[in-house]
Amino acid sequence: MIRDSDFDPRAHQAVDLWAMACEELESARNTPSHPWSHVCFNTHGLEGPHARILVLRDVDPLPMCLTFFTDARSRKVQELDFDRRSGCLIYDVSRRIQLQLQGATTIMTDQIEVARYCSLLTPAQRKLYFSPQPPGSPWNAYLDSMPTEEAAQRAVVPENFRVIRFTAQSAELLFVLPEDNVRFRFERDDNGWNGLRIVP
Ligand SMILES: Cc1cc2nc3c(=O)[nH]c(=O)nc-3n(C[C@H](O)[C@H](O)[C@H](O)COP(=O)(O)O)c2cc1C
Repeated sequence: MIRDSDFDPRAHQAVDLWAMACEELESARNTPSHPWSHVCFNTHGLEGPHARILVLRDVDPLPMCLTFFTDARSRKVQELDFDRRSGCLIYDVSRRIQLQLQGATTIMTDQIEVARYCSLLTPAQRKLYFSPQPPGSPWNAYLDSMPTEEAAQRAVVPENFRVIRFTAQSAELLFVLPEDNVRFRFERDDNGWNGLRIVP
């Protein structure tokens, strides 16, 4: 497969490479040991671009939607309110594969779906969403009002829990081989994804 040490992207059509990349993303979701499970998620803010790592929670390969969890009060959510355009970057260090995705992100409003995703949180993760102090607040203020273990046990969706869904419109896949760089661009239209090998 695409991550095998002897995989040669030059022997494959763009359409097959895209299908393999989708499969790899699907196997990375909720699997922290998988190198594609930690995505660099990029937004536009009023003060310029911002990037941060998010855990990949779900993948819908056909429209190429990536799902993440975050806090409603975080800077990224405010930035998405300002500009939905966003980007995702994945780099597989051991195989030297880069996947770049450009698109837009929405905040999930379907509360049944949100509750289903919320059930994936560990107690330690749940606790963070009950913090009265927003992410980015001074630590001392947090110390005075830390969320309790009891809060984490509550069988409700934390008020500040958000599911954000990124949908890609275009993508690039780059393989850094010892003797060559192999690069493909992919675009989405009404019929699905089309790929083309491009000059690296
Ligand atoms: C390994 C790792 C995994 C992370 N996973 C998440 C995550 O799934 N959701 C999240 O909101 N922040 C996650 N973070 C923290 C973010 O990178 C970031 O620091 C935080 O969300 C605040 O970002 P913002 O101020 O740009 O909104 C993770 C950080 C690391 C290093």
